[in-house]
Amino acid sequence: MKMSRMFMAAGLVLFLSLSIMCTKQEEKAEEKVMGGVSTQEMAPVNVDRAGHDPIADGKGLFTEVGLGTNGKSCASCHKDGTDLVGKAAQYPRVVEMLQREASIQDVVNLCIVQAMGGEELDVEGEKMKSLTVFLESL
Ligand code: HEC
Repeated sequence: MKMSRMFMAAGLVLFLSLSIMCTKQEEKAEEKVMGGVSTQEMAPVNVDRAGHDPIADGKGLFTEVGLGTNGKSCASCHKDGTDLVGKAAQYPRVVEMLQREASIQDVVNLCIVQAMGGEELDVEGEKMKSLTVFLESL
């Protein structure tokens, strides 16, 4: 009696793992459907738990004029950010214009205020975080 129960249990485990394996394979097959491009490749790589991709968000903010009041975006002066490649890693450092040690966030706020006529972003806020992550990705 005990033996047959053990066999039943083993059978159940086998059945469950087989069906899990099958669904996984079906999912994989589905990924390949979309025009030969895997849906996995299409998904953003750095999505956080809330479904945000901070690098993409930061890139969006970089080209947005809404951070300032003079119709300029970061991209107006820094194009696609090519002149800022590797810059984020050089901070914190002493910045002449501020005459003190500054973080990358301080410099971004300096540009927003001085070059865009905008208001400083909250250093801990989502917008600043996304911009920083984008600059670090360059
Ligand atoms: C009106 C032009 C202008 C706008 C708009 C502007 N910047 Fe700047 N930015 C400058 C200038 C000029 C400098 C100092 C010279 C340099 O390093 O390119 C600078 C410097 C920087 C630096 C430091 C570069 C370094 O060499 O260490 C960063 C980072 C930066 N800007 C980011 C931004 C971001 C992010 C935005 C948008 C929120 C922005 N800037 C908007 C003109 C601008």
